[in-house]
Amino acid sequence: MCGIVGIVGLQPVSERLVDALKRLEYRGYDSAGVATITEGALHRRRAEGKLVNLEKRLKDEPLSGTIGIGHTRWATHGASTERNAHPHFTDGVAVVHNGIIENFAELKDELTAAGAKFQTDTDTEVVSHLLARHRREGMTRQEAMRAMLKRVKGAYALAILFEDDPSTIMAARNGPPLAIGHGDSEMFLGSDAIALAPFTNEITYLIDGDWAVISNTGAHIFDFDGDPVERARQTSIAAAYLVNKGNHRHFMEKEIYEQPDVIAQALGHYINIIDNHADTVSSIDFARIPSLAISACGTAYLAGSIGKHWFERYARLPVEIDVASEFRYREIPLSPQSAALFISQSGETADTLASLRYCKELGLKIGAVVNAGESTIAREADAVFPILAGPEIGVASTKAFTCQLAVLAALAIGAARARGTVTEDEVQALVRSLAEMPRIMGQVLNSIQPEIELLSRELSKFHNVLYLGRGTSVPLAMEGALKLKEISYIHAEGYAAGELKHGPIALVDENMPVIVIAPHDRFFDKTVSNMQEVAARGGRIILITDETGAAASKLDTMHTIVLPAVDEIIAPMIFSLPIQLLAYHTALFMGTDVDQPRNLAKSVTVE
Ligand code: F6R
Repeated sequence: MCGIVGIVGLQPVSERLVDALKRLEYRGYDSAGVATITEGALHRRRAEGKLVNLEKRLKDEPLSGTIGIGHTRWATHGASTERNAHPHFTDGVAVVHNGIIENFAELKDELTAAGAKFQTDTDTEVVSHLLARHRREGMTRQEAMRAMLKRVKGAYALAILFEDDPSTIMAARNGPPLAIGHGDSEMFLGSDAIALAPFTNEITYLIDGDWAVISNTGAHIFDFDGDPVERARQTSIAAAYLVNKGNHRHFMEKEIYEQPDVIAQALGHYINIIDNHADTVSSIDFARIPSLAISACGTAYLAGSIGKHWFERYARLPVEIDVASEFRYREIPLSPQSAALFISQSGETADTLASLRYCKELGLKIGAVVNAGESTIAREADAVFPILAGPEIGVASTKAFTCQLAVLAALAIGAARARGTVTEDEVQALVRSLAEMPRIMGQVLNSIQPEIELLSRELSKFHNVLYLGRGTSVPLAMEGALKLKEISYIHAEGYAAGELKHGPIALVDENMPVIVIAPHDRFFDKTVSNMQEVAARGGRIILITDETGAAASKLDTMHTIVLPAVDEIIAPMIFSLPIQLLAYHTALFMGTDVDQPRNLAKSVTVE
């Protein structure tokens, strides 16, 4: 997490650094800072909290200079104070960092014993101290850079200024992404191409172990051993994206309402693939693999958990799934003949990337279901399945989730056809259902907002909420709970409805609303029995069902949201809409920061 930028050119940079940081604020918003070199000296402005605070600071105390670096922070080591905000300065060296220096404690002890005085509680400050020490020892800037990189362990994207060289930014990457942007007599550096989109779409991505010396005329890139290397320059499509809220109050609201359009776009792509037989369009041979592993984090993991149901049910393909932070430590017996799918909106999540590399080493074919087509996960995969959701800025994932689901559904149908586990008529029926989805989503979004608003007002009065479901509605119940807790800060948990009586039912009383996600599917009657158990204990039920389910349930509920009756394969996407809107409107009543909820960041590049 954390976003970093750099500009070296001929025009003043500080405003443009902040402009680029705005596009990176999704990576963290605990504090922000910029540093430039003017009149032979390093200067910086830093501020606690969101970028607006830094902007105010810069208005009062402007920074000149045609070279600079900037940072927006998601705190790992050290509180979110101005003192801990980047850039860190040590004796003419300025550093901004994204990642974690894992051996910082040992390095800090060593540097302190040698007389270094640390100004912050961050892990990053060891980098500026090491560089300053190497310079004092008489090393050139590049020698100091190499020596520092040999000492630090962990994950880093770094941008560095040396006061005695006002024409060069140094950069290094090991883990978190770093993109160099090529301009006209100016060069740029950023955590992603979207940050650089206002300046250039000509991008060179550094790979792990690379470091670079960037001046306004170009960049020289070196590998870990200091040998010069060539990295491809490419034209990024990031510039094509217009990143604003339109007429919506929040990015999250905009992204919820964009779903019919982006799902239609994704389906257009994948229905073509199914029609052309999935086994021929990717390097993953779904017809022959004995099993599939899926790994991801958070919402993407929950999308994968729904995908597991589809691959197993339609393609009869056994799926092993786990959250990425656990996956590679479990020593799962994986066959090298199998394939693994990694699902990630950002394509940069550290745990997911580490799981991908683990599976690659075991010899599995790697598929990436990603939104960011230029991301590390996409670049390291054998087959990329883009979800085509467009930039998702709201920290709480909405449209990426349903697009991930749409892609997984299409892949499962393609795999089923390749494996001969469904008839051609069944394939056509499933594809027809998928194709119906954008229209039904539009219809739902156009109709449910007023009742969701009323319900959210009620929900915002409670401190705890339970979500229940069966089948694919179990991960959806968990997603509903995740969405509610992350943006409204109301405690919520998602459970398999059948598990209720094995523990959680002890929590049920009139103070605990129970949201039941129950399309009228093959599990419906059993879910109704679980609702009866809740009702018998005075629990308040909010039932999210379809027209058939509403007619059949005959239960007294606090509220019933009735959706159109749809085929089972698209129900998770359709039922996502009320749970997203419920979280969104409840958060509005709670007065939280919907797009940038506390303690979170959009791209999680630390383990
Ligand atoms: C929750 C949310 C997170 C992400 C998770 C993985 O709303 O967005 O749980 O799903 O951090 O991120 P990606 O998909 O970028 O790997």
